[in-house]
Amino acid sequence: MQIHRDMGRSLTGTVIITGGNGSLGSEIAVAIAKTQPFTHLLLTARHPTRQDVRDLITRIRLIGPRSIEVLGLDLTDLRSVTSFVQRTIERVRSKEIPPISNLIHSAAIASYTVDELTLDGYDPVYQTNCVAPFFLTVGLLEAFRAGDGTPDGGAKVIYIGCSAASYGRLDFFDRNQGRDTRPPGTILSRKEGNIRFGSSKLLASVALYALRRSLASTDNIALDLFTLDPGGMVGESRLRTGAPLSVRIAHQTRSGLGPILRMVSRSSINKTSVPAKVIAKVAFRRVAVEQAERYFILDSEYEAASVLPTLRDGPAMQSQLVHMMGRVEVGSQFKGSPESTSTAPTTY
Ligand SMILES: NC(=O)c1ccc[n+]([C@@H]2O[C@H](COP(=O)([O-])OP(=O)(O)OC[C@H]3O[C@@H](n4cnc5c(N)ncnc54)[C@H](OP(=O)(O)O)[C@@H]3O)[C@@H](O)[C@H]2O)c1
Repeated sequence: MQIHRDMGRSLTGTVIITGGNGSLGSEIAVAIAKTQPFTHLLLTARHPTRQDVRDLITRIRLIGPRSIEVLGLDLTDLRSVTSFVQRTIERVRSKEIPPISNLIHSAAIASYTVDELTLDGYDPVYQTNCVAPFFLTVGLLEAFRAGDGTPDGGAKVIYIGCSAASYGRLDFFDRNQGRDTRPPGTILSRKEGNIRFGSSKLLASVALYALRRSLASTDNIALDLFTLDPGGMVGESRLRTGAPLSVRIAHQTRSGLGPILRMVSRSSINKTSVPAKVIAKVAFRRVAVEQAERYFILDSEYEAASVLPTLRDGPAMQSQLVHMMGRVEVGSQFKGSPESTSTAPTTY
């Protein structure tokens, strides 16, 4: 394994970006590489040897000497997530890489057909967008950079949200973990697909805010967790692949966008580099420990509960946390040996 470290100065933290080869994830990596030369960029991709990953590394190399690696991570397989978590914790402990300063959940999928459940027994949209990001965050807790009371201490977890969360329902995946009674391959309507995707994004946001509250009340962990909705984006996103034509047209015209995005008319359709620059800025904002729960829509900042009213419902939040922690416990029982899944870094 080789990490490029011709930096001439020690690294300040590790930035993990899931979906690092995705349309937004890759732009976030570029934006952080441009503005934060002394961070270690740890990108995850399902297929780290693919050409899009190689092209991204080449692009980042042109910016200047950077410490960067790409690891395999498949969010639809909790053994892969566990293996990634174990390996990352070991590497931070042994000081092979610096503690995590930022975990940016950018990976996501949308699907407009009834899918087979994952090996872990979940709807793949729910697992990829919600269960696995939560699992990853909890699993990595001890690898985050500790707070030392200075603006450079502590760490941030940014969940990349979506206006589609406004279609979501908190109880959508309660029944049979999202199992649809219709046969796999059945085409879903635009409405069904949006509710399913929106529910996965909504639940992830709510669960992570619930985790934030729990950490703030029980531990002295200087960890800030929040959602950032990048707004509509043009580009090569694969999230709309397979969507009914009506969905794709709605994305192009914005006629189908939900109330969260409509709140801010200037969060219009942007190139991915626009939200990526905002994310790179917010991720490294120098504040000691953020007290308020915030929700970003592009670069506009809101009280999170004004966007997600569930956050005002203490018992509902507690119940979501208990629910998700239950998923984490069950998932941990599926621990595979680190050799059993592909987390070997790809050397460039
Ligand atoms: N596109 C938009 O207009 C829009 C608007 C608002 C919010 N967002 C949010 O922005 C984020 C990024 O979206 P995007 O437009 O960049 O989408 P994208 O180009 O399709 O990228 C999605 C990324 O997720 C990865 N991924 C999918 N399934 C995975 C799995 N099982 N395990 C690990 N990684 C997996 C993909 O990897 P592979 O290459 O291997 O498939 C890819 O890197 C998402 O959270 C989305 O909800 C997007």
